[in-house]
Amino acid sequence: HTVALLLAGGTGTRLYPASRSHRPKQFQSFLDDEGRSLLRQAADRAAVADDLYVVTREAYAEDVREHVPEAAVLTEPAGKDTGPALVYAAHRIREQVGDCTILNLPSDHRVAGDFATTARQALRVAHETGRLVTIGVEPDRPATGYGYVEPGATHVEWAELAAFHEKPDEETAREYVAAGHLWNAGMFAWTPDALLDEARDSPLEPVVAACEDGAPERGFREVDSLSIDYAVMERTDHAAVVPADFEWSDLGSWDAFARLSDGENTTVGDVETLEIDASGNVLAGDAGHVSVVGVDDLVVASYDDRVLAAPVEEAQRVREVVAELREEG
Ligand code: GDD
Ligand code: MG
Repeated sequence: HTVALLLAGGTGTRLYPASRSHRPKQFQSFLDDEGRSLLRQAADRAAVADDLYVVTREAYAEDVREHVPEAAVLTEPAGKDTGPALVYAAHRIREQVGDCTILNLPSDHRVAGDFATTARQALRVAHETGRLVTIGVEPDRPATGYGYVEPGATHVEWAELAAFHEKPDEETAREYVAAGHLWNAGMFAWTPDALLDEARDSPLEPVVAACEDGAPERGFREVDSLSIDYAVMERTDHAAVVPADFEWSDLGSWDAFARLSDGENTTVGDVETLEIDASGNVLAGDAGHVSVVGVDDLVVASYDDRVLAAPVEEAQRVREVVAELREEG
């Protein structure tokens, strides 16, 4: 039995002002021909599994039900990043479904090509080996916003995971790319038992214990915000990697849109644009008209009554804007 679990509790800070804490990026449509939200696209990909679950925070539960009416919705007691959320969800799914293998999927990705074959392979390997399985993507640059997976001994369909490094600095990322490490796609397959066993031996132990005592709120109070990558994947020696056989990008920040369009200007959303002597710009908005003249590689994003302008290269720094505006949380 297989279960797809979508993560939909992030606030999407780096896509400000399209993404705001009251309407984060997963509920919005960016480049999809059919106008589906990122969450809806993730739900459609999740059809490879028998059942569909979404884990999110209370404040987003209603939006989730609207976008994915067919899913069972789990609301975590507090937003503490993906570590506590995934442990809580694995525990609840084991209670409700029994023995199964879970395919954990983020809801901020653009995927093209044959996702199902890789997803089924990851589920199979997780079921057969009892390992924590990550899907690995061939890197094309020393990105600092991803986790890196070092493949070890190889088997027919998978490799052992020799090491995992979350979000390295650029120099280290360069070494990893040269050494043939893969990006962690942030898509994992495991059985609830495999995850809970590894989490018991990690900083997430209070969440496991509290879930078993029927008091998850306590566990969420006792731990700091921590992603599954730092909490479990960097520590476990019982993981595996399956290579991605599909096209993948994380639509986490505005520079992702620039990369997808290869030096052309890109328009995102419902905005009309005019470009004169301009290239490589990302022009985004929910209405109206944006013009640029004589500038290259700039992000201009206009949503509601807010405008953001930043060089594509510094798009990650939108975080600083949001922190300053105290939009976070
Ligand atoms: N339920 C819940 N609760 N979901 C959350 C929470 C939370 O507190 N925080 C984040 N999420 C969801 C986001 O909505 C997103 O779908 C997913 O979890 C991943 O979170 P991100 O914040 O986007 O993570 P990241 O992109 O910085 O890093 C992860 O993904 C990369 C690939 O896209 C890591 O797994 C990296 O190792 C990986 O390379
Ligand atoms: Mg992401």
